Amino acid sequence: ASFRPFNEMQTVGKLMKVFVTRRIPQEGMKILSAGGVCEVSLWDSDEPVPRADLLKGVQGAHGLLCLLSDRIDAEVLGAAGPNLKVISTLSAGFDHLALDEIKKRYILLGSIFDSGIRVGYTPDVLTDATAELTVALLLATARRLPEGLEEVKNGGWSSWKPLWLCGYGLSGSTVGVIGLGRIGVAIARRLMPFGVNRLLYSGRTAKAYAAEVNGEFVPLDTLLSESDFIVVSCSLTPETQELCDKAFFSKMKNTAVFVNSSRGAVVNQEDLYEALNNGQIAAAGLDVTTPEPLPINHPLLTLKNCVVLPHIGSATHSTRGIMGALSAQNLVAGLQGTDMPNELTF
Ligand code: NDP
Ligand code: DGY
Repeated sequence: ASFRPFNEMQTVGKLMKVFVTRRIPQEGMKILSAGGVCEVSLWDSDEPVPRADLLKGVQGAHGLLCLLSDRIDAEVLGAAGPNLKVISTLSAGFDHLALDEIKKRYILLGSIFDSGIRVGYTPDVLTDATAELTVALLLATARRLPEGLEEVKNGGWSSWKPLWLCGYGLSGSTVGVIGLGRIGVAIARRLMPFGVNRLLYSGRTAKAYAAEVNGEFVPLDTLLSESDFIVVSCSLTPETQELCDKAFFSKMKNTAVFVNSSRGAVVNQEDLYEALNNGQIAAAGLDVTTPEPLPINHPLLTLKNCVVLPHIGSATHSTRGIMGALSAQNLVAGLQGTDMPNELTF
């Protein structure tokens, strides 16, 4: 991997310098290279930019297009210097951005002090894809699909057996959603037609739109003790960090299935391992872990009742293309001082 000027035809000096921390969908690169706004330097790889190269690549940049795997903190802002005007992340989650540090930076543009660094992100456009994947993960975990596939391949399938590979069904169940935001309600909307009996949710505030899924706003403890399926779709914040710990799992039913497609750090993984291993809960499906990738010798990967996916919630061809385009539009609009399609207010 190396740095690559993306559009070598453009004249250096007149353009705003932009650093892109990874290969992104062409839909995004086309927007960055059109219109004579940006001189793009790309970390030309599908793998993350090493920290030292991020610090080097961002030097003097007016714009930074980053991913959720890039930690954008005081060190990166310092390395970028006073030019930095826009940070655009190709993600809906923004827990990798040190917003308090970003807020502190004021930028000097000519002789005018601007109001600070603007931040763009990509919510909404990935809601359907992520909700769909979360439902797939829930069903795969509850109905033990990976175990079944394995048995077909390894010869363990000897006959149709009344007591073999039984799991848990959604019909007549109670589902609890922690964080009924854009993705949380989209998950609920998809689960209800499976015959879910009650839809509970918890969070900081009740939502008027929860009526659409007959959602009942309940205290977290009620959700934990009454749900057959628990889906975590909240954002990662200091309050939700390791929200799912020993005490959390101890309040769940022994037959309950836990699914997380938000961020790995919402879960204390040692406590989850214990809860799965000692039968405190039935099974877990995780699209997100700490760290990512999860080391292949991680204890969670030894458990049959834990299904781990490599953070693919938004991974459809069209969604990633749209995310790429939106992140580029956010960046260009921010550089031009116009309205960003999705600007984060913080
Ligand atoms: P939203 O902002 O719409 O929803 C976030 C929800 O988190 C809100 O409903 C909020 O509820 C809730 N929340 C915040 N604090 C707490 C808390 N202390 N306890 C319980 N709930 C809380 O975001 P999205 O739905 O668009 O995305 C949610 C998250 O999903 C993202 O932040 C990202 O981390 C993750 N994500 C994962 C993907 C994947 O590939 N697996 C893809 C896309 C996103 P309230 O308003 O009541 O505070
Ligand atoms: C996000 O956007 O926050 C996801 O985790 C990846 O699409």
